[in-house]
Amino acid sequence: MFSSRLEWNAPANRLTRILRAKRQAGIRILDLTESNPTRAGLVYPAGLLEGLSTPDSLSYEPQAAGLRAAREAVSRYYQAAGRAIDPDHILVTTSTSDSYGYLFKLLCDPGDEILVPRPSYPLFEFLAALECVRVVHYPLIYHGGWGLDLDALRQAVTRRTRAIVLVNPNNPTGSFLKVSEWEALARLALGRGLVVIADEVFADYSHRVDSSRVTSLAGDVRTPGFSLSGLSKVSALPQMKLGWIVANGDESFRRQALESLELIADTYLAAGTPVQHAAAGMLGTRDVLQSQIRQRVAANLAYLTASLGPDSPCRVLDVEGGWYAILEVPRLRSDEALVEELLERHNVLVQPGYFYDFDTDGYLVLSLLTVPDVFQSGLYPVLSAACRDSA
Ligand SMILES: Cc1ncc(COP(=O)(O)O)c(C=O)c1O
Repeated sequence: MFSSRLEWNAPANRLTRILRAKRQAGIRILDLTESNPTRAGLVYPAGLLEGLSTPDSLSYEPQAAGLRAAREAVSRYYQAAGRAIDPDHILVTTSTSDSYGYLFKLLCDPGDEILVPRPSYPLFEFLAALECVRVVHYPLIYHGGWGLDLDALRQAVTRRTRAIVLVNPNNPTGSFLKVSEWEALARLALGRGLVVIADEVFADYSHRVDSSRVTSLAGDVRTPGFSLSGLSKVSALPQMKLGWIVANGDESFRRQALESLELIADTYLAAGTPVQHAAAGMLGTRDVLQSQIRQRVAANLAYLTASLGPDSPCRVLDVEGGWYAILEVPRLRSDEALVEELLERHNVLVQPGYFYDFDTDGYLVLSLLTVPDVFQSGLYPVLSAACRDSA
């Protein structure tokens, strides 16, 4: 009766079942996976919601690309970072996930392929499957820092490949694309007629300055592509449901891409009027949230690093930005068995690397957005269970 896009009735995995049972029993879980900023104890500025109740929100004047006021607000956001983006090159969506849906519809026929990094954001499989598109992974490799395996990326391109997704910085590795990598990648994309989709939702969250990085591709005129972001991470407001797509590339590509995207957007007219009117205010107060998040992430990362003694068999992988840390642990058992034990015995929830498509065991992903008390209380059992000496 239903389509075969997804395995609709896939059984919940064991970890989910244990978690559900614990929650039903009222047991307090130390959740080190929390990445919802509205549950992270942040202080949101008073007056943040005022923009939602302007009288303009009572009239419905749908515009496929989004209301001019919202697109201008997004343009000012880029301007503050020194990027001149014409509001006419911006299309408003409800979220970055929504933006992917639009772009896969725009670029792919059923059965076409998009290249996505591995490890990376687990939702790609679903976003692609729902558009009948195939995900093909290209590896990121860790050698003291994360980098692209350009040869593997080249080999992953087939005649069905339509786009390369870059997550910059990547989730959960926190790694930024480097200028030298971008040069090679742009050549590949241009040579093979591929579009570059740059997911820049975490671009404002860098842990240190590094001139070898690409900080954003928004406004790049050389390579046909798109930059994606939204209020979800920029202003820590995922519940507002406002994202955007910036069309990059030369004039001819941009014009055609935006015209077609408007056709898709016109079919749904998904973004709400009040939040589009409020976008300027919500973007305007982003520094208040971003500075709290930066402090939180830095403090948890410092605590994590300091908690590993010099002889610990565990190590924290280098992280340049974003909201996550990766703890490399001895492979004494599978990551699945380890995270289940942590939850079952210690009521601590962490994510195993395989959620993010790490290709081997030995990696746990921790959210650095976690409230510090919870992070610190939860970390002790994690390190005791995971960082026992393998000798
Ligand atoms: C890399 C990445 N892209 C996109 C998203 C989704 O963002 P949105 O809430 O705007 O759909 C997330 C959410 O965590 C993410 O980590």
